[in-house]
Amino acid sequence: MKHFLSVNEVTNLSQLVDNALAYKANPFKDAELGHNKRLGMLFLNPSMRTRISTQIAAKNLGMDAIVFNVGQDGWSLEFEDEAIMSGTSVEHVKEAAPVLGKYFDILGVRTFPSLKNKEDDYSELYINQFIKYSGVPVLSLESATLHPLQSLTDIITIQETFKEKRKPKIVLTWAPHVKALPQCVANSFSQWVNAWGGADFVITHPEDYELDSKFTKGATITLDQDEALKDADLIYIKNWSTYTDYGKIYCNDPEWMLTNEKLAITNKAKVMHCLPVRRNVELSDEILDGSSSIVTQQAGNRVWAAQAVLAELLKSKKQ
Ligand code: CP
Repeated sequence: MKHFLSVNEVTNLSQLVDNALAYKANPFKDAELGHNKRLGMLFLNPSMRTRISTQIAAKNLGMDAIVFNVGQDGWSLEFEDEAIMSGTSVEHVKEAAPVLGKYFDILGVRTFPSLKNKEDDYSELYINQFIKYSGVPVLSLESATLHPLQSLTDIITIQETFKEKRKPKIVLTWAPHVKALPQCVANSFSQWVNAWGGADFVITHPEDYELDSKFTKGATITLDQDEALKDADLIYIKNWSTYTDYGKIYCNDPEWMLTNEKLAITNKAKVMHCLPVRRNVELSDEILDGSSSIVTQQAGNRVWAAQAVLAELLKSKKQ
């Protein structure tokens, strides 16, 4: 694994999940693997879980991790080629990335989409510029369109939660939100569940909220949430803004929020969310405070997903 941007870099997903669960059982078993290696973690946007869990994962492998908040602690960056930098950007990624490549063995980057220009966002300009110019392995800490560390965590959590000898029914359902949010988590979850292949996978959302079929192909898609939830074993709640007419909020229907009444038509489904979550907008108190919610177990697993991926990147660098 040279870089980690999506499931496409993973050669053996089932092995990666097993590796993560082995780290959960024994966090320090590879405590020498990252000795004298440094992880740089660049945040162009806020984070709690990704930032802390990846630092812990690096430490478990014996690495040093340094966090840098771009734009807040340092100079604001320019990413466009041939930009005339007479505006607010102070430093071009063409200088910043190779400098960071001198400081770090692996470079983690978190960016968000603009939600204004679909072509720019879906070209993953920011993270690809770091790959182009840093000269070191790049680890996505969430990009404009995907959140692979979150999705690996989600597969790990599903595998350790669902123990029956049949495929689980997994439902990704859209939920209301007050802000226009990226499609990253929903895209990425769809991509990873489809690659994992171990599920009956259903996606449900209101009209106009179709995701990019590049990620959803293989799932059953329905506008009827009740139909989707019937007999579900696991439900993944997430808001996203519109993809086709890009970055819009067309619906805020509170009927789409999951409640205990809706949970009654499922197969005692466990409820997942990547967090942070808006209580009583995206998910009701009764769900989050009840026994069906596995959101904190899920967030805890972020450490083991990050550790398994960092270990792969470190091993690839040694070869
Ligand atoms: N789920 C997730 O990525 O959380 P943070 O934004 O807090 O990192």
